[in-house]
Order: sequence, then C-alpha cells, then structure tokens
Amino acid sequence: MQNMIIAIDGPAGSGKSTIAKQLAKKLKIEYFDSGSVYRCLTLYGMNHFNQSCEGYESEIAQCFLKNPGLLEIRYVDHRQTLLLEGEDPSKRIRSRDVTRQVRFIASNPECRDVVNAKMRSLAKTHCFAIDGRDIGSVVFPETPYKIYLDADVEVRAKRRALEMGIELNSAEYKQLANEIQQRDQGDRNRTIAPLILAEGAKKIDTTKMTVDDVVKLLLDWIDSNPNN
Ligand code: C5P
Repeated sequence: MQNMIIAIDGPAGSGKSTIAKQLAKKLKIEYFDSGSVYRCLTLYGMNHFNQSCEGYESEIAQCFLKNPGLLEIRYVDHRQTLLLEGEDPSKRIRSRDVTRQVRFIASNPECRDVVNAKMRSLAKTHCFAIDGRDIGSVVFPETPYKIYLDADVEVRAKRRALEMGIELNSAEYKQLANEIQQRDQGDRNRTIAPLILAEGAKKIDTTKMTVDDVVKLLLDWIDSNPNN
C-alpha cells in the first residue's frame, strides 16, 4: 500500500505551502515543496548554462539524470533540507530571476520527469503533504487526498507582497501582481502537466478564510475519508 500522500495544488499565493506545512505538522508527516525542486533545476541552469534557461532545458535535465547527487533532499526534524551541489540554495531559489525563469524548466517533460522521480522515490519511505501544480493530477493521481486551493488574484498578490516585504500599491507591487498573473496563465495553459482541478479533488477558495479555518476544514475532511 502507498504511504499517505496529501496532494495540494493551486496557483501562486493560494495558501498551498502554509496549509501543507500545517497539515504535515498536525498529521506528523513531512512537507514536500515541489516548486522548490523546479527552482533548484532553474538555478542550476542559470549558473551553468546561461542566465536564461530557455533552450537548455534538456541539457539541464540530463545533468540531474547523470548525477542524481547534484540535488539532495533530506528530512531533519521534519524539515525539508535541499542541497544543490552541496550547498543550501534556499535563499537563491526565491530570487525574482529564478521565479521568472522557472517556466522554461516547468514546461519541459524531461525536467518534469527528474522532479517527479525524486518525489515518487521519497514517497516510498515517507508520508507527505506535497504542494505544487500537478501533484493530484499527474504525480500521485491515486491518492484519495487531493486538494485544490484557490483565491482571488488580488488577495494572492497581497499575500506574496507581505511575505516579500513589498509595499502595497507601489510600482513593485503592481509588477509582482502582473508576474503572478502571467505565471498562473503559463501554469494553466502549458501542454504538459497544466494546473487543473484533479478529478476528485476538494476545492477550497481561501480568499476570505483564515489559515486556521482552512486547516480545520481539511483535517475534518481527511479524518472523514473512507480510506482511513
Ligand atoms: O510553488 P512555486 O511558486 O515555488 O513554484 C514555482 C514554479 O514551478 C511554478 O510557477 C510552476 O511553474 C512550477 N511548478 C510546477 N509543478 C509543480 C510545482 C511547481 O510546474 N508541481
């Protein structure tokens, strides 16, 4: 039988990582941030091939296939730790440059296979709450715990701005809101593993909900699942 996988998909800023971390903590399982793995491949490509990953996607995937140790994913005290070429990439993968470039990696099938293989291999030995775009639809379609979070785009942009310390209504904020919209469009419209509502997923609009409300609702839903 497969270990418990809670698949949480949705657009940027819908609350996926906050909710996934809380669910993982309450259920005493691990949190897996699949977006951070796409970001690691992107950062690697930017460092080794070109400041733009466009056109180098297959070569980047080949590097990770040939040398899986390039990216290590470990769990220490229930915290996901990433090591990219032996170094902690956690700050650099959150840069605006990486965020702008990640779409090239995310729309390449070979790169997606690299990321999916890492998740599936770790899921043999761990229970996870995983957030991403295609976790319920492509990576773990067999899990009974599929969740889709959404929220109004303005609310999502505000949440991101708060996280990043960007002043609301500033020029930088408007640029951020624009980038979020473009990234959503790219994630929804790409041909491979687009962001969709997976069959059987529980959809929640978090626009007017607190984190505690969403976590409680989902814990009750997980608890009442006939597969428990
Ligand atoms: O979640 P995060 O914003 O860090 O993800 C970065 C990007 O990685 C997303 O915009 C998306 O293009 C891609 N991604 C994906 N599939 C996932 C997780 C992330 O395509 N499962």
